[in-house]
Amino acid sequence: MCGIVGYIGPKDAYPILIKGLQRLEYRGYDSAGVALIDSDLKLYKNYGKVADLEEYVKGKDLAGNIGIAHTRWATHGEPNQVNAHPHFSQDKRLALIHNGIIENYSSLREELIKRGHKFESETDTEVLVHLIEDVKKNENVDLVEAVRIALNMVIGAYAIALVSVDNPDLLIAARKGSPLVIGIGEGEFFLASDATPLVEYTKNVVYLDEEEIAIIPRNGNLEIKTIKNKKKTPYVETLELNLSALEKGGYDHFMLKEIYEQPTSIKDSMRGRLDIDKGTVKLGGIIDYEEKMAKAKRIIMVACGTSWHAALVGEYLFEDIARIPVEVEYGSEFRYRNPIINEDDIVIAISQSGETADTLAAIRMAKEKGATIIGVCNVVGSSIARETHAGVYTHAGPEIGVASTKAFTAQVTVLSLMALRIASLKGNIKKSRFRQLLIEMETIPEKVEETLKLADEILDFSKIFTYSRNFLYLGRGYNFPVALEGALKLKEISYIHAEGYPAAEMKHGPIALIDKEMPVVVIATKKGAYEKVLSNIEEIKARKGRIIAVVTKGDTEVKKLADFMVEIPETEEMFVPLLATIPLQFLAYHIAVRRDCEVDMPRNLAKSVTVE
Ligand code: AGP
Repeated sequence: MCGIVGYIGPKDAYPILIKGLQRLEYRGYDSAGVALIDSDLKLYKNYGKVADLEEYVKGKDLAGNIGIAHTRWATHGEPNQVNAHPHFSQDKRLALIHNGIIENYSSLREELIKRGHKFESETDTEVLVHLIEDVKKNENVDLVEAVRIALNMVIGAYAIALVSVDNPDLLIAARKGSPLVIGIGEGEFFLASDATPLVEYTKNVVYLDEEEIAIIPRNGNLEIKTIKNKKKTPYVETLELNLSALEKGGYDHFMLKEIYEQPTSIKDSMRGRLDIDKGTVKLGGIIDYEEKMAKAKRIIMVACGTSWHAALVGEYLFEDIARIPVEVEYGSEFRYRNPIINEDDIVIAISQSGETADTLAAIRMAKEKGATIIGVCNVVGSSIARETHAGVYTHAGPEIGVASTKAFTAQVTVLSLMALRIASLKGNIKKSRFRQLLIEMETIPEKVEETLKLADEILDFSKIFTYSRNFLYLGRGYNFPVALEGALKLKEISYIHAEGYPAAEMKHGPIALIDKEMPVVVIATKKGAYEKVLSNIEEIKARKGRIIAVVTKGDTEVKKLADFMVEIPETEEMFVPLLATIPLQFLAYHIAVRRDCEVDMPRNLAKSVTVE
């Protein structure tokens, strides 16, 4: 996610701002910038790291005791200098930084262009600062009122900070959906996306609430009002956490933080794409190719690791919902086996980092052979994203833990949206059924929230398996890829050998492994071939295997057989992977922690495998 830092007080702002950005580097970003006011408004920004920005501003005028600074995680517009924040208003008298996604930015942009505004970047942020400027001029109101009116016109999520050369004693901030916290010092104020950059200056903080605007004066008291113009009394809290804990948002590991971020990351993957009222799915990134996708005789999905498991879920989704044949390929295999690729083939490349060498090489080869390449990536402007014909970003935010969690569920969310969109284009799904699925999909983030509450139950029984030497994971249909993903999670962070298998395949060999030492995780949710999975569980029971079952809430059958059981909320079969994965993430995490493994940076692994 983007990082925001602000300062107003008696000190030089620049050193505080740049140090604040360094404190926020853990959030992941691709560019950085700063705006300072002395007698004039100075703005410096650069593609690259904070260190590159420091290099870039060497020798430049860095005077000023009010300023804002930003690290950008690109959502709209490539990662480059032009799109980096801060952004100027048209008259260059305002500078704004922003974390979040403004969904209606393109319609606002068109309106502002009609009123003579010219834009330099592709960002939604630049539209917002021009809108504030436009409102201030045309409504003839002061800056705070202009911000308030403008924020009532935007749809989406924002955390913003704004400075004005005409108001050098005023820092303005506002939030909706993206966090902002104000540090209260002695005659000075600090602003940041989280408390990490503040903790060395002050422990007194005010967390902005939804739709609140902070009016931060150079001298005097902090004022807060809502965008509906309701005055609010600032609630000052005392920070307890230390710095390293803060970077992880109070969690022990980034992986655990990212598991808990999934209600938000799944919501962000759907944001602006699922419209229940209109009963539509809109994926702007593939709009020019969706007809071609709907007519495809075959879709090839290429990925590695966890993303390959998401591709397997994608296979079930597209064949089940969109009725298009799908082949799933490991990037490393696909690139070397000289596959037969036709010009009407669609190749979907799935990659969190967008830099995985095998996946990148595979799509280059497919592109040369004439296929159409569609990307499902998390990092905007990454190599794979740049080399596809079109694509849909997952918007999961930076994933720091090497073991992928929220990126997987975000990939599955995007693939679900794609399958639904293509199905609706092909007309092979009744409108009523389509609407029913959209309504259910919208409930997934809250069902994920409910599933996250299983953490303590799983922590309890996971202790028993701390020193197990092998695990089997079984699932059928949509849950077969979930079994593979659960096994990979355990392997890569606890170093316990684990295998995922289609449940019925157990009879063709792995059943020989079953004894009282073998824990078997079975995903036995009510949808799909539930009865068959039940008999698979009986077979395991008969051989004294230890059964850990993931079932649908209220299940009574599996309860009679399983040694341990967690219940996830009921949902449509196609959405079960989004819920069933979560208990397996927790199981792997808690076992790995008990084994004192380096959960965020497991041995031998890299977050992005950019080499063969
Ligand atoms: C998953 O937990 C691993 N970190 C790894 O398998 C990863 O999914 C794989 O390397 C693919 O990475 P990508 O999604 O960035 O292409």
